[in-house]
Amino acid sequence: MNKNLRTPCIAGNWKMNKTPAEAAVLVDELKAAITAPECNVVICVPFTDLPVALEKCAGTPIKVGAQNCHFETSGAFTGEISPVMLKEMGVEYVVLGHSERRTYFGETDVTVNKRTLAALKAGLKPIVCVGEYLEQREQGITAELVAMQTKIALQGVTEQDLKNVIIAYEPVWAIGTGKTATAEQANEVCAVIRATVAQLYGKAAADGMTIQYGGSMNAKNAAELLAQPDVDGGLIGGASLKAADFSVIVDAAK
Ligand code: 13P
Repeated sequence: MNKNLRTPCIAGNWKMNKTPAEAAVLVDELKAAITAPECNVVICVPFTDLPVALEKCAGTPIKVGAQNCHFETSGAFTGEISPVMLKEMGVEYVVLGHSERRTYFGETDVTVNKRTLAALKAGLKPIVCVGEYLEQREQGITAELVAMQTKIALQGVTEQDLKNVIIAYEPVWAIGTGKTATAEQANEVCAVIRATVAQLYGKAAADGMTIQYGGSMNAKNAAELLAQPDVDGGLIGGASLKAADFSVIVDAAK
């Protein structure tokens, strides 16, 4: 079965939560709760929490990611962080194109593509987010929209580099709302993303690609979502801030 070709990835997106001191506490709890995961486990923390997360996660199965990066290596971009800076710190993953960045910070498909290329060049593994607003779902354009977001994000990404890319399907209406997509809805759109990747890179590349679902995934609904044939993991917001809940989700991803 194709799902067996892929290693699931459970990533926590802490968003703008936890000071460094609070992060230290949560990472200690996560380390105690997650000792031998059967999937990749990543925590994507605020920039200011990266040093403590990296130090505490060294030698553990928990990997560390950032939540954004700029597309240039250096220069006059006040307030920005480059992928090279993250890489040098030891950061492995970076969330790109999250809907909150698209909605509040002017992120576009084109800038997501630029960031994806820059992150890959620096040796980071991008978790590229795509997903529709409720009105778009109601208009019946989810599949086209998500396929387009995927195609633009991957423009210029080589087949070799694609192996380091994760795509996260996050329906915007399900984020932080407690309104989860049904397992069927999540699988349907993850399958559209996989078919789009197959169009661009061929079936083998698509079969090997990790595609996550994100949006109100929690300890209760994770097992059903993760059992879907095209859902290879989760990008978890709220529930990633509680070690007990996050570790249940990790356990569900076997
Ligand atoms: P919630 O799990 O809080 O809905 O957030 C999902 C998300 O945006 C992860 O990136």
